[in-house]
Amino acid sequence: MDYQELNNGVKIPVVGLGVFRMDDEKEAYNSVRTAIDLGYRHIDTAMIYENEEPVGKAIRDSGVNRNELFVTTKLWNEDIISKNTQKALETSLKKLGLDYIDLYLVHWPIKDRYVSVWGEMEKLAATDKVRAVGVSNYTEKHLSELLEMRSLVPAVNQIELHPYLSQKELVEYCSQYDIKIESWSPLCANKNNLLEEKILIDLGEKYSKTPAQIVLRWNVERGLIVIPKSSNPGRQKENLDVFDFELTVKDIEQINSLNKDMRVGPHPDEVGF
Ligand SMILES: NC(=O)c1ccc[n+]([C@@H]2O[C@H](COP(=O)([O-])OP(=O)(O)OC[C@H]3O[C@@H](n4cnc5c(N)ncnc54)[C@H](OP(=O)(O)O)[C@@H]3O)[C@@H](O)[C@H]2O)c1
Repeated sequence: MDYQELNNGVKIPVVGLGVFRMDDEKEAYNSVRTAIDLGYRHIDTAMIYENEEPVGKAIRDSGVNRNELFVTTKLWNEDIISKNTQKALETSLKKLGLDYIDLYLVHWPIKDRYVSVWGEMEKLAATDKVRAVGVSNYTEKHLSELLEMRSLVPAVNQIELHPYLSQKELVEYCSQYDIKIESWSPLCANKNNLLEEKILIDLGEKYSKTPAQIVLRWNVERGLIVIPKSSNPGRQKENLDVFDFELTVKDIEQINSLNKDMRVGPHPDEVGF
């Protein structure tokens, strides 16, 4: 497993398991247990996924030392609006059954709150309840306002990113401030036939890898962190097995050419929160 270093020195495994839509308790528990057995050391959940309890139990039952695991959860919109930041963190910790969270993210940039909520996150960052704080779905506009008003630079911006939405400008902007990018829906949520693109199939044949592995490797080589979701042990294994080959500059350019600024999730400016 490769690691990236966040801007406060905390190390983060570059491939994590996303657990969105694992709302069946057994599915969430079994998926996290299997993933950790397979070597995953990074789990990405959120209060709104309604699975912090089984995810936390799987982490605690895994037999792996807590300090070898990296756990992310997120502050949901209603808690942002009602300024419930500290209580929301405590509730998440309780549900997870953990003493601390490695990364706590503001889930969406809520109108009129996307800067002020950061003051509350800064306070949390000064406690031993979180090791790093960051944001999710922030555009350059949200970030530039935040950076102008507040002193702590977010460690992470977790955004939708895959070959159909390569986010070149936002990745470059965040890199100027040492804000690491995490790609959500890195496989385009297995929609829009991304994994059937000829470029990805041909590159897969070239390296004896699957199109999904090519996409994940493209992220890793751009210095990004990926959190593919899978409840299937075979695909979990596949998604972790991306560290024994390297794409060429030409391969990367070919994958870049697939960009069409196409989203599978909502645009942060258009969400009605
Ligand atoms: N911050 C945010 O606002 C936000 C928003 C959305 C998602 N996220 C995070 O990002 C994570 C990943 O995003 P996502 O779940 O939307 O999409 P994704 O990881 O791009 O795709 C997941 C889908 O692809 C399938 N899949 C997984 N590995 C595969 C492989 N190797 N080959 C073919 N299909 C594969 C999965 O099915 P199986 O399970 O059957 O394998 C599932 O249907 C989420 O779980 C969540 O943690 C964050």
